Amino acid sequence: MKKVFITANLPGNGVELLKKDFHVEVFPEERTPTENELIEGAKDAHALITMLSDRVDKTLIDSCPNLIVVSNCAVGTENIDIPYATKKGIFVTNTPGILTETTADLAWALVLSVSRRVLEGDSFVRRGKFIGWSPSLLMGLNIHGKTVGIYGMGRIGTAVGRRARGFDMDIIYHNRSRNEEAEEMVKARYVDFPTLLGESDFLVITAPLNENTRGRFGTQEFRQMKRTSVIVNVGRGQIIKERELAIALKEGIIWGAGLDVYEREPIVHKGLLGLKNVVLLPHLGSASQETRERMVEMAVENVVMALSGKTPRNLINPSQS
Ligand code: DGY
Repeated sequence: MKKVFITANLPGNGVELLKKDFHVEVFPEERTPTENELIEGAKDAHALITMLSDRVDKTLIDSCPNLIVVSNCAVGTENIDIPYATKKGIFVTNTPGILTETTADLAWALVLSVSRRVLEGDSFVRRGKFIGWSPSLLMGLNIHGKTVGIYGMGRIGTAVGRRARGFDMDIIYHNRSRNEEAEEMVKARYVDFPTLLGESDFLVITAPLNENTRGRFGTQEFRQMKRTSVIVNVGRGQIIKERELAIALKEGIIWGAGLDVYEREPIVHKGLLGLKNVVLLPHLGSASQETRERMVEMAVENVVMALSGKTPRNLINPSQS
């Protein structure tokens, strides 16, 4: 019987379905396995279901002589050495599309929480500090009618833009190249990078990590933004220089920030932890029950197809075969 090693406990019943036809082992702890634990579980497996936090590198791949497929339960695959997997003839798959709308929802949860000081308000009430309405208590920023700037107008960026229409906002965006379909769909205006920085009241990062986006936002960029602006990152942590963001927030160079992803995840720069004008989430972009269950189903389906001798639906390295 072929073995499937899963590196985390997964929601939904996808794993139960796998058990009917395969020998399934699940890493039992509620944490990311260490490199050795990963090798130990994976070494005789034919399929791996991995998370973004698992490093699938040369060492791991070389430790798994039976490996047919690495099915990442995420849309991103930067945790996997794809060229090497491809060279070894191993399928690599992901879970695209399904988490677009859910991640866009979360981007707005961050915009709203930061701007309207939702977490500070909640904590204020719980600490028994609410003794009556006060005219200047926890004043935040208006959102409606302002300008949202989207850095990375792909699927998630477009979904963020669509929601902005409901807030009567102007939408500008910057990408490596124009996305005319999105421009038409959400009535967004393409701008160069300095204009994005200078005009956005809310700058939402939805871009993937690549050589152009890595470290794109630092002190210099924050200084070009409005002092009343808010930056939100639901893309990838390494796009923002976190230490420099902490300084910009502390010194009031920008007004606030909402982060779901971090430069050295799961480590969060300690300069951010004591600040009230940043909302910090533990990479929850796709974390709705419905979406996570659907992601697991897709990851499982990719494994079943690969282990049945078929080409998996969400293959990202077709050249392996
Ligand atoms: C992904 O799938 O790449 C997300 O960041 C995880 O929610």
